[in-house]
Amino acid sequence: MHTYLVTGGAGFIGSNYIHYMFKKYGDDIRIINVDALTYAGNLENLKDVENRSNYKFVKADITDKEAIAAVFASEDIDRVVHFAAESHVDRSIRNPEVFVQTNVLGTAVMLNCAKAAWELPDGTFKADHKFLHVSTDEVYGSLPDDDSAFFYETTPYAPHSPYSASKASSDMLVKAYMDTYKFPANITNCSNNYGPYQFPEKLIPLIINNALSGKKLPVYGDGLNVRDWLYVEDHAKAIDMVQEKGRLFETYNIGGHNEKRNIEIVNIIIETLREELSDDDPRKALVTKDLITYVEDRKGHDRRYAIAPDKIKKEIGWEPETMFKDGIKLTIKWFFEHEDWMKNVTSGDYQKYYADMYKA
Ligand code: NAD
Ligand code: TYD
Repeated sequence: MHTYLVTGGAGFIGSNYIHYMFKKYGDDIRIINVDALTYAGNLENLKDVENRSNYKFVKADITDKEAIAAVFASEDIDRVVHFAAESHVDRSIRNPEVFVQTNVLGTAVMLNCAKAAWELPDGTFKADHKFLHVSTDEVYGSLPDDDSAFFYETTPYAPHSPYSASKASSDMLVKAYMDTYKFPANITNCSNNYGPYQFPEKLIPLIINNALSGKKLPVYGDGLNVRDWLYVEDHAKAIDMVQEKGRLFETYNIGGHNEKRNIEIVNIIIETLREELSDDDPRKALVTKDLITYVEDRKGHDRRYAIAPDKIKKEIGWEPETMFKDGIKLTIKWFFEHEDWMKNVTSGDYQKYYADMYKA
């Protein structure tokens, strides 16, 4: 039986991954979820697994060496899946330091504690113990705006935002551990995720939430930036497949084959909301394209991201399965059924963040 240490499991992708893993493996795995519960971490995301006997939550900061070493000392961890990070580009532009702290220093602590727990006296590592570092395609920088190029595992790193620079640094640390110690790890670089439990600071849940309350839909710059959207459950499946079937020490890019301009995304959300809302729902009248508002562009805004997920398909047999038209419906339905979740996460600090971020 594998025992997983999942970091950042109370966040968007981490909580979806934990749900996916229990759905797939049931009682045949154990999961220890280590999360500091920042503004982005929410234990409500894990309500339906919290009473499982093979699940445990530990509130700890990944930069806290003693706390992380204590988890390795008390649990027989043989799998680490490292999600915990500061994850929002706009916040990184306003406050870069916490990104270095969590994403770089936190990853160094995770690597060091796993190495200390797994290393044998001869410098090799316990058999079948593996660390998977979850990263982003944003480390590769920005692509030209003409469909001609894609990110591959061999694309040189060229991060622009403080967020992507901190993720690139954390990737380099993982590579350094693999090269120096033959530390058993993989790195995955993934494109933009969407789906249930995503915090409404990111484009898709922010637009859904604003539209349903008749608030302006802020589109940065000319709205023509391109992102490659991946349904979060497909990502969770890919992570599991890389960890179990991938070649150790390799990087795998995970993409959605689903490039869209931001303005297209906003229009699809409006159209899908109008289709899904019944005629007698008072929110329907609020959801119109008149809400679209072009606002000042993000500083250093990367123009286009797109992954060619050829390596993971060829070596591991993974492909994105959820078409955007289906994934966005599932996402919107989830938000309809979880109005309280949205109310809870948008109360308090979120109001302050929103007022400050979108004040212009
Ligand atoms: P998120 O912001 O929703 O969740 C991050 C989680 O990490 C939260 O639960 C938070 O409490 C926790 N955390 C933050 N700092 C911590 C610390 N110091 N110690 C312990 N826990 C801490 O992020 P997400 O969107 O779920 O992203 C997860 C990972 O996937 C990140 O590493 C991110 O860089 C990567 N990624 C995200 C996307 C995306 O589209 N969201 C795309 C590619 C890669
Ligand atoms: P985001 O969801 O923040 O992800 P990332 O910056 O990591 O790609 O943003 C996705 C795209 O949407 C990005 O090009 C910025 C843009 N965007 C807006 O136009 N308006 C918004 O309010 C937000 C949050 C993002």
